[in-house]
Amino acid sequence: MAILVTGGAGYIGSHTIVELFGEGYDVVVLDNLSNSCEKSLERVEEITGKKPKFYKGDIADREVLSEIFEKESIESCIHFAGLKAVGESVAKPLEYYMNNISGSLVLFDEMRKHNVKNIIFSSSATVYGDPAFVPITEECPKGEITNPYGQTKGMLEQILTDMYKADPEWNIILLRYFNPIGAHESGRIGENPNGIPNNLMPYITQVAVGKRECLGVFGDDYDTEDGTCIRDYIHVVDLALGHVKSVKKLEDKPGLKVYNLGTGVGSSVLDVVNTFVKASGVDVPYEMKPRRAGDVPVNFCDATKAKEELGWVAKRDLYKMCEDSWRWQSNNPNGYEE
Ligand code: NAD
Ligand code: UFG
Repeated sequence: MAILVTGGAGYIGSHTIVELFGEGYDVVVLDNLSNSCEKSLERVEEITGKKPKFYKGDIADREVLSEIFEKESIESCIHFAGLKAVGESVAKPLEYYMNNISGSLVLFDEMRKHNVKNIIFSSSATVYGDPAFVPITEECPKGEITNPYGQTKGMLEQILTDMYKADPEWNIILLRYFNPIGAHESGRIGENPNGIPNNLMPYITQVAVGKRECLGVFGDDYDTEDGTCIRDYIHVVDLALGHVKSVKKLEDKPGLKVYNLGTGVGSSVLDVVNTFVKASGVDVPYEMKPRRAGDVPVNFCDATKAKEELGWVAKRDLYKMCEDSWRWQSNNPNGYEE
């Protein structure tokens, strides 16, 4: 039996496959390579000695999905595939709804047709909006979502919840990720953004490696200790291990479950910059910039539920996240391009 990993060539997907192989699972990947390349899977093979079976295709393509479900014996799906850039989603809402919503509907329908009713979905802390309280538990009400990308996460959570209510044969785990950073310890796989990075850690590493001059820190007048925003950064390998625990949980037929995956520790933008400088030994020039629209001041989670029900705890600290991000970036200044 194998696990279908949609979006498996991407950042979180490739790290998750390494950990799935480590636990002896077979993996089939479906990815259209719109934001990744097959090289990441070759690197997974380098690390693990195993290469997942790869289908280049779209989650909206019924033919390729039918082929996969007919040829491979899939028992569950980890659904990472999706577009994820917040700013781009504001400019291209239709593309985001089409890719993330329409594509996922086709995937779910083909899963149902082939009687594969076990799924783990990549959701996001973005569904809490400006959270009603911190640390955020799974009971925290969903908040106002300010961009189409985040809306697709909220909508897909609702769609999966309604599917479960109509047909309790489904087992569905919604994982709400906080801020994944870091890379595999080998330095062979990591985050590989196209163009100017939107997110903090890839921007920092690109400044450190000399590809960009200076980091802009978006806002230093928030009501936090140093005035910059607080986030719950989580090492991508811990996040990947959270998926392995969730796959095991699916084997118990849990019904519908929701888990936060974070460390429970909040770090400010300046904490990340300062820790990165210590871990890498490289200076990162920065300047204060105005606040970025849509940023919430403070966002970190209570991950007790994942600990109690999945037996999962994030173990890698911010220093380790910075060290590993830097190893990846400094060894691969141009990502997967050689
Ligand atoms: P990523 O872009 O590196 O990986 C996503 C993968 O999906 C890419 O390989 C891309 O080519 C593929 N893809 C996109 N649309 C597809 C389609 N229609 N058919 C087939 N493949 C398609 O992103 P990531 O950081 O690894 O994120 C994985 C998932 O986690 C996404 O759903 C993302 O929204 C979610 N998530 C990410 C973060 C984060 O900060 N990285 C936070 C919360 C949630
Ligand atoms: N930041 C900077 N400068 C930069 C980039 C980011 O100061 O160049 C700051 C942001 O203002 C924010 C913090 O660094 O305070 C983290 O920003 P990221 O863009 O790295 O992460 P976000 O918390 O904004 O967003 C992430 C994911 C989204 C997800 C969201 C949910 O990228 O996909 O978490 O909380 F929806």
